[in-house]
Amino acid sequence: MAPPLIQVDDVVVKYGNHLALDRVSVTVDAPATGLLGANGAGKSTLMKAILGLLTPTQGRISIMGHDAAKAADLVRRRVGYMPEHDCLPPTMTAADTVVHLAQLRGLPRRDAVRRASEALFTVGLEEERSRLIEGYSQGMKQRAKLAQSIVHGPDVVFLDEPTTGLDPAGRGEMLALIRRISHDLGIHVIVSSHILDDIRRTCDGVVVLRDGRLAAAEALETLAPTSAQGMRAEVGSSEAADRLATALTQGGFPAHRDGEHGVVMPDGSDRSLDALRDAAAHYGIALRKLAPAGGTLEDALVTAMTE
Ligand SMILES: Nc1ncnc2c1ncn2[C@@H]1O[C@H](COP(=O)(O)OP(=O)(O)OP(=O)(O)O)[C@@H](O)[C@H]1O
Ligand SMILES: [Mg+2]
Repeated sequence: MAPPLIQVDDVVVKYGNHLALDRVSVTVDAPATGLLGANGAGKSTLMKAILGLLTPTQGRISIMGHDAAKAADLVRRRVGYMPEHDCLPPTMTAADTVVHLAQLRGLPRRDAVRRASEALFTVGLEEERSRLIEGYSQGMKQRAKLAQSIVHGPDVVFLDEPTTGLDPAGRGEMLALIRRISHDLGIHVIVSSHILDDIRRTCDGVVVLRDGRLAAAEALETLAPTSAQGMRAEVGSSEAADRLATALTQGGFPAHRDGEHGVVMPDGSDRSLDALRDAAAHYGIALRKLAPAGGTLEDALVTAMTE
């Protein structure tokens, strides 16, 4: 059996006295995996440890079956990395930078030139590739960073907060690019973000970190919204929610209580919703919120990340 893409085993990373990763164990093997966590959760630290850029205080990490601490050459040639901060030389052009980095990863000059131009085309920078990076917008810098991470045709790429600093349009483009890299180019993607939606739109699996600890590791197919989960109404008090759930159920529309002030109707059909509105009107109960009842794993992930 092929080894998993990444195996993290009981890893501790300390910066001085500060515990940045606290006995993290996780296996990463999906085509695209999200690393979700609030600021300071340990996302960048975990990426750097897997890339062999820092040595854990304790524990073991393997990448493609090799010990990450001893795999510098493998990582250089077969892994890409987009760091979270600006890292490209401002007084060079994107084209020269990406060619140079491709050569550092082992490509001969001629291949490096061809591949750099392909990678810059992929990220939509072909027109601006001969401009100095210092004149780039944040979105262009992020795309240039992405181009250098894929230029050598790696098996796996680590993208650390690729949507940082992007406006909604730029963010959408970046997420679409990440999907293309994973789906069309067949490169494994590990992408970090503090926004669940970024990860849901690009990944098959998610790893949640909180205060340096593993809070959850899940497949994401269960996050797809399904109408089968029905609708959830939020009312002003638990008494009102009780009365509404009972009245609906007695009227032939099964409903159950959810949370302190919620009522869920698993059958989210228009008829059920009409019955819900009628019952609420009949008892003088205000519906404060009406929304699809799905996303329980999503709620759980957000809770795992923040509480
Ligand atoms: N070089 C360092 N020296 C000391 N402490 C550090 C260092 N790098 C990170 N830390 C601390 O380790 C913890 C984890 O940091 P890390 O950068 O991995 O988090 P992150 O999840 O990437 O956060 P962000 O979303 O802000 O990028 C934080 O508390 C951070 O302050
Ligand atoms: Mg970070």
